[in-house]
Amino acid sequence: MMTDNSNHIITAKDFGKNFSWGVAIAAAQNEGATNINGKGKTIWDTFSRSGSNIKGGAKLTTACDFYYRYKDDLLLVKALGFSVFRFSISWARILPDGTGKINKEGILFYHRVIDECIKLGLTPYITLYHWDLPQELENRGGWTNYLIIKWFSRFVSVCAEAYGNKVKHWIILNEPFGFTSLGYMLGKHAPGKKGLSNFIPAIHHAAMAQAEGGRIIRRMVEAAHIGTTFSCSQIIPYSDRKEDLAAANRIDILMNRLFIEPALGKGYPVDDSFKFLEKLQLHNKTWKYTERLHFDFDFIGLQYYFPVMVKHNSYVPIVQATQVKPTSRKLPVTAMGWEINADSFYRTIKKIWLYGGVKEIIITENGAAFKDEIKHGVIDDAERIAYFKQHLQAVLKAKKEGVNIRGYFAWTLMDNFEWSEGYHPRFGLVHVDLKTQLRTIKNSGYWWRDFLQ
Ligand code: NOJ
Repeated sequence: MMTDNSNHIITAKDFGKNFSWGVAIAAAQNEGATNINGKGKTIWDTFSRSGSNIKGGAKLTTACDFYYRYKDDLLLVKALGFSVFRFSISWARILPDGTGKINKEGILFYHRVIDECIKLGLTPYITLYHWDLPQELENRGGWTNYLIIKWFSRFVSVCAEAYGNKVKHWIILNEPFGFTSLGYMLGKHAPGKKGLSNFIPAIHHAAMAQAEGGRIIRRMVEAAHIGTTFSCSQIIPYSDRKEDLAAANRIDILMNRLFIEPALGKGYPVDDSFKFLEKLQLHNKTWKYTERLHFDFDFIGLQYYFPVMVKHNSYVPIVQATQVKPTSRKLPVTAMGWEINADSFYRTIKKIWLYGGVKEIIITENGAAFKDEIKHGVIDDAERIAYFKQHLQAVLKAKKEGVNIRGYFAWTLMDNFEWSEGYHPRFGLVHVDLKTQLRTIKNSGYWWRDFLQ
C-alpha cells in the first residue's frame, strides 16, 4: 500500500513539462501479417504451431492486424492524449533469415509507421528486440550461439541505417531476463528450451548483444537517446528466517540484478552462496568479455508489474526457492494472478536509482490485465483505472524524492497476444474484438485522455 498521499488526486502536470507520456506495443503481439510481403518465420510462429504451447491454441497470424491498421491505431494513441509511441521492429520482417538479404517491404513498413507517428506529432521509440527471433537463427542455436552477437549487430546496423535520421530514441532489448528464463530455461516461451546448458549461454549472449547494440546505435545515430529495458520486482522474503532471506536473495539476483549490473559495468552479480553464479562466471571467463558487457546507457527502461514473495524450498533445483502466491495470502490480484502493489513499484524504482550510475529512468511498461466485460459498447474497467492511479502515485513519489524519471509508458495500447497466455488476458486501454477487429476505447482509455489533458 502507498504509505502517504494515496488519495491525493494527481494530474499529468504534477510530473513536470519534460516528462514523456506514452503507450507501448510489440511487433509479435500486435502486427499479424506473419508471412506477408517477404517476412521470415519467427520462433513464435513455430512455437504457436503446437496447440499445447499456448493457451487456447492461439496463433499470431492476424493478432490485432496492426500491420494493416497502424494508421487508425496511431490515431487512437493520439486521441487518448499520448505524445510518445513505443513499438518494436520484427527482425524477421527486416531480415527474413536473420542475417542475409534485406527485405525492402519490411523496411518500408516501419518507415510508414514512423512517418505516421511524426505526422501526428507522436515521438517514436523503437525497441530492437521484443522476443521474436527469426526461426532461421534459432535453427542455429538462437541465443545459445555466441554468433548471435554478430547476427544481432547486423540487424541493429540495418535498422540504424534505415531509421536513424528519423528516430532518436532506441531501446536495445526488451526484458532480457524474461526471454532468456522463459524461453531457454523454463521452456514456457518460444523457443521452448530448458535447462542451464541453454540458459547460461543465452544470458551471456543477451547481455553482450545488449551492450554491443548500444555501441552500434551510438556510432551510427547522431544525438541518439539509448536505453534498454529490465523487468523488476520487489522480492519479499516470506519470513525473517535465515533460509527464507537467503532464498529471497537468490531470486533477487536472478530477477533484478542479473542483467542490469553487467550493463552498468559492475559485471555479473557475485555471491558465494549461489552456485549458479559460478557457472555464469565460468562461461564469461571462457570468452573474457566482461568489459564488453558494459555500455553507458542514456536511460534505463524499468518495467514493473508485481512483487514476489519468496520462501525457501530445498526441492526446487538451482534456486531452492518457491513463490508464495498472493492468492494464498488473500491479496488483490490482476487477471494474471499478479499481486497489485504500488508501494512495491515505488521501492523498485528507488532501488534501481540507488545503484548509482543510472542517468535516467523511464518506465517503459506498467499496466494490468483484468476481466473486462463489454456491455452496450462500454467497458467500465474501474479496476484498471485504480491500478494506474496508484502506480502513478508511486512514480510521482519517487520523482519528488529526486529520482530522475523522465517518462511513463502504459502497457498497452490495445488487447493483444499475451505470449503463452494467448489472447485471453486483456491489458489494453482499447478493447479489441478479435473476430471483427473492432476497437472500443475502455473507460481507462478515457481516463488517460482526461488525465493527460
Ligand atoms: C512484459 C513484456 O514486455 C510484454 O510483452 C508483456 O505483454 C507484458 N510484460 C505483460 O505480461
